[in-house]
Amino acid sequence: MFRIIEKSNLAKDITRLVVEAPDIAAKAQAGQFVVIVSKKNSERIPLTIADSDRTKGIVTIIFQEVGFSTRELGALNAGGSLQHILGPLGTPTHIENFGAVLCVAGGVGIAELLPVARSFKKAGNRLLAIIGARTKESIILEDELKQAADELFITTDDGSYGKGGLVTDTLKGLLTVIEKSTHSKYPDLVYTVGPVAMMRAVSELTKLYQIKTIVSLNPIMVDATGMCGSCRVSVGGKTMFGCVDGPEFDGHLVDFAELQKRLNSFKEKEECLNKMCPRKE
Ligand SMILES: Cc1cc2nc3c(=O)[nH]c(=O)nc-3n(C[C@H](O)[C@H](O)[C@H](O)COP(=O)(O)OP(=O)(O)OC[C@H]3O[C@@H](n4cnc5c(N)ncnc54)[C@H](O)[C@@H]3O)c2cc1C
Ligand code: FES
Repeated sequence: MFRIIEKSNLAKDITRLVVEAPDIAAKAQAGQFVVIVSKKNSERIPLTIADSDRTKGIVTIIFQEVGFSTRELGALNAGGSLQHILGPLGTPTHIENFGAVLCVAGGVGIAELLPVARSFKKAGNRLLAIIGARTKESIILEDELKQAADELFITTDDGSYGKGGLVTDTLKGLLTVIEKSTHSKYPDLVYTVGPVAMMRAVSELTKLYQIKTIVSLNPIMVDATGMCGSCRVSVGGKTMFGCVDGPEFDGHLVDFAELQKRLNSFKEKEECLNKMCPRKE
């Protein structure tokens, strides 16, 4: 059992748990994830390690309650415990001093971005970040990202905070300004994490400018150790496993249409389960 030592709500339906897991905290690197089993017989769900502290032996997970298992996890409280937490899993982010890195994150992807953004900055990169959500209340970790980034741009779909519109509108605006300026140069790397449609749009845009782009994918995972094949994704025509070869891949080579189709394949069953554990109002 793994003790939950802190719980907080970052936004409606977005929860942060700090969990005692010294073995995982000792090895965790940016871009890696854990598999959580909330209670005996619960489903296994992959969640990014949003933060970790080796000295204290703790890891932080931040998740959006989107269905049965994330709501089951969100119902646990500080002082309680998780049945299992397995990790760190996945290939860590390739961190080096690329020069200038532009990070783009949407929704709960902002939490997944934080450890990666901090690592790029620590490696000496100039760090620009664009974060976006539907509305002001759903923007999370603004202060933490302000600290990590040299420049932070915020967007909301409804215009209630930051710039109105999608993260890709701001990205396009930035790239257009750079294109016209004789003094600035394009970022050396774009890193993006969030909804599939957003990562696809970012990748299509950066392809036009030939800027190398890394996407952090979220395929359906079951064992998360490379054996079941449920997380397979097509990258440059090759089959890769998200859990061991990823979750990060070259965004210009990912077959996003196939990824979205595979993510939708359990929709009916998920909706059935969700009726048993309705959304909080
Ligand atoms: C490497 C990785 C890291 C992730 N990190 C985070 C994170 O830090 N925070 C966060 O909120 N979410 C994260 N996710 C997504 C999270 O795992 C799903 O939201 C969760 O599994 C949904 O389960 P559910 O039963 O609550 O919802 P369901 O109703 O079962 O599903 C809702 C949607 O979540 C996706 N999903 C369902 N089951 C899985 C599964 N086993 N694996 C992956 N996706 C699934 C599907 O797209 C589905 O349509 C991550 C996914 C991956 C693969
Ligand atoms: S989740 Fe089973 S192979 Fe990746």
